[in-house]
Amino acid sequence: PAEVYHEPYRPQFHFSPKAHWMNDPNGMVYVNGTYHLFFQYNPSADVPGNIHWGHAISKDMVHWKELPVALYPDSLGLVFSGSAVWDKNNTSGLGKSGHPPMVALYASHSVEKEKAGRTDVETQSLAYSTDEGKIWHKYKGNPVIKNMGDRDFRDPKVSWYEPQKKWVMVVAAHDHIDFFSSKNLINWTKESEFGQQLGAHGGVWECPDLFPLTSGNTTKWVLIVNINPGGPNGGSATQYFTGNFNGKTFTPDNSSATKWADFGPDNYAGVTWSNTGKRIIFLGWMSNWRYGDKVPTSPWRSAMTVPRELSLKKVGGQTLLASEPVGELHAITSKENSWANVKVNGSYDIASKVSAANGKFILKLKNAQANDFSIVLSNKKGEQVVVGYRKQDNQYFIDRSKAGQVDFQLDFAKTASAPRLLTTGNIDLILVVDAASVELFADGGLTNMTAIFFPTQPFTGLAIKSQGSLNVGKISYAKVNSTWNR
Ligand code: FRU
Repeated sequence: PAEVYHEPYRPQFHFSPKAHWMNDPNGMVYVNGTYHLFFQYNPSADVPGNIHWGHAISKDMVHWKELPVALYPDSLGLVFSGSAVWDKNNTSGLGKSGHPPMVALYASHSVEKEKAGRTDVETQSLAYSTDEGKIWHKYKGNPVIKNMGDRDFRDPKVSWYEPQKKWVMVVAAHDHIDFFSSKNLINWTKESEFGQQLGAHGGVWECPDLFPLTSGNTTKWVLIVNINPGGPNGGSATQYFTGNFNGKTFTPDNSSATKWADFGPDNYAGVTWSNTGKRIIFLGWMSNWRYGDKVPTSPWRSAMTVPRELSLKKVGGQTLLASEPVGELHAITSKENSWANVKVNGSYDIASKVSAANGKFILKLKNAQANDFSIVLSNKKGEQVVVGYRKQDNQYFIDRSKAGQVDFQLDFAKTASAPRLLTTGNIDLILVVDAASVELFADGGLTNMTAIFFPTQPFTGLAIKSQGSLNVGKISYAKVNSTWNR
């Protein structure tokens, strides 16, 4: 029933479970026209613990249907994060004739061993389905990879490595990534380790991903490594490396600075869909371990980001990852209102120029002067979220200090900042706003920031503000429709 999805703060076009706790996206795989999304899920409470794999499916990544829980805890432990692949050639032998298996690899997390103070708490396990994800069977020989001494050893992400016709798995092991390979998804050989001395180490490494991306005629490998805490604006965040991969080892490009896929506070544990060909689509958990279990929503907690299409861009000799909202969002946006050659003098009110602004929209600025400006989302109670650009230090920022409910966590109100990575030229940006979140994609998706917020009344106001005058080549605004009205 539609009304179930209209509680305060309920995202209207981002996936959220009907009830209870959700964290990481898991097992994302595209099979026969359906995008599968599994997720870390506690089916009995709105706080973490008792972790299962929830399941949802979609034809377009924007309209989701939640299905029954897919994977349940067993004697090896809770069902922590992992991935799924479509084993179309039945390399695992787990399929039935005419029914290749969907195979999930996930971390089993033993609460008993944890309580006993042991270090072999986490192992990698396998489950498979021969009916495209409805009924799952645990592999009898689990775990398929034993714990080798790292207390943190989890979140296997598997992909097919065509040049050597084998499966490759990346697993997070506390402060580095372990690489494994396999011919059948069952017997795994450790190939290499990466990362002890590289990247950010302010917290534990979690949820890795590895995939090639092609831009023009160059192909690079991208290694995603989520980290908690130690993110650029506190708590959990997603870093990445670019480099090469030969089926055994990952060799990073020379680069001193840590690279972040999203600088905002609320995009974590993101990885990409399997089996989507050259098109690489990323999805993250739109929250932060600092306060994910305290956000004032009920009866569910947390949503996913919008799906983002990844690409590579060269900036000043460096290869950077860019992400932008998937084109499928067009299917749920209303006709665009747009205004060309706008001179913002103090304030340019957008909400009053569109009919029935409801705080769910995609706003685009094209060719905006790189001078100080802010985009203000507001309500009649004077609460606001401000997204903007500061010329002085060349930073984008999101200020949610006056956004309504902020006291459930110390520092939730802190302004988040991110460097503008494109160093010259005018600014292009996209803002995606749902009931309780804003996602900023600046400069073709080079600098991204995601932040959640909880105003006591919806933010239906929208204006662009500048100190002096600000020229913007084009402003466009399109309302986004709810995907729950079906
Ligand atoms: C990341 C994470 C994973 C783990 C899961 C447990 O958010 O900590 O490393 O598998 O969540 O729910």
